[in-house]
Amino acid sequence: MENNLSNINLSFVGCGVMAESIIAGLLRKNLVKSEQIVASHPRENRREDLTAKYGIRVFERNDEAVENFRESENSTIALCVKPQRLDNVLRELKDSVAPNQVVLSIIAGAKIETLAEALSNEKIVRAMPNTPSQIGAGITAWTCTLGVSDAERAQIKALLTALGKELYVETENMIDMATSLSATGPTYIFMVMEALTDAGVHLGFSREMSKELVQETMLGSVMFAMESHKHPAELRNMVTSPGGTSADAIYQMEKGGLRTVLSKAVYAAYQRAVALGGKK
Ligand SMILES: NC(=O)c1ccc[n+]([C@@H]2O[C@H](COP(=O)([O-])OP(=O)(O)OC[C@H]3O[C@@H](n4cnc5c(N)ncnc54)[C@H](OP(=O)(O)O)[C@@H]3O)[C@@H](O)[C@H]2O)c1
Repeated sequence: MENNLSNINLSFVGCGVMAESIIAGLLRKNLVKSEQIVASHPRENRREDLTAKYGIRVFERNDEAVENFRESENSTIALCVKPQRLDNVLRELKDSVAPNQVVLSIIAGAKIETLAEALSNEKIVRAMPNTPSQIGAGITAWTCTLGVSDAERAQIKALLTALGKELYVETENMIDMATSLSATGPTYIFMVMEALTDAGVHLGFSREMSKELVQETMLGSVMFAMESHKHPAELRNMVTSPGGTSADAIYQMEKGGLRTVLSKAVYAAYQRAVALGGKK
């Protein structure tokens, strides 16, 4: 596939776990060169670490990172600070962002309208990754304003593959929906993983053995579901023999309201995402 990022310039504002995951993924996949990337970070030791590890320039001030590529015709600013830092960062960047620069935010709850108004910019991309992104195995839902051109959209798509898969969604509400399903998603999975491992220990397995049995079962089941393209209920029915162990287990899961609990958990996370986005 042709690399459409060969001319892009990237300024990462805030360079913690997620920004580093994107940078590492882009460089590992040879999608960009280190000269195409700058970042900003308030701590000196972190700046030195990032330069040593990735050969990128890291500024102390956020506006310096943005202004570094202000004159470039192909420049994207990635906002990767924690939500509670956003207001200050937007104030700092207010006069530094040029209209032709694309602003990509991965900040939970930061609304497109807020970013567009604060930065007087019409090219806003809002993306919601999840934690497996840290090993390049995440899924990122993203959307953007009409000001983002087709060529810029294609670049954002390529950029986000540094974190794993990406999925364009039509509306900003779908970003809140993805926040509750895929971005909060690892929490549901890890809790199920933990509960099953504990159940194995309860039966008498060592924790190590139980963990291995559970993790491989989860991984294999996901791969099987993806490769077979069968509905989960069909796959489940395949292993549910009359009067067998699965039938007894299913009875208890239904009795305990597993489906309802998961559905309520996702809905609660969605409502929280909407509420956080509405806060000033
Ligand atoms: N982690 C995820 O899976 C995930 C998923 C979806 C969305 N997100 C979003 O991604 C964003 C970043 O998350 P993260 O996990 O990468 O957090 P993080 O590791 O804490 O990264 C944020 C970085 O910004 C630095 N920072 C603090 N104040 C700053 C300032 N004023 N200007 C510039 N940089 C500053 C922090 O430095 P210090 O280390 O010194 O505090 C830290 O290194 C968050 O908004 C989060 O909502 C994360």
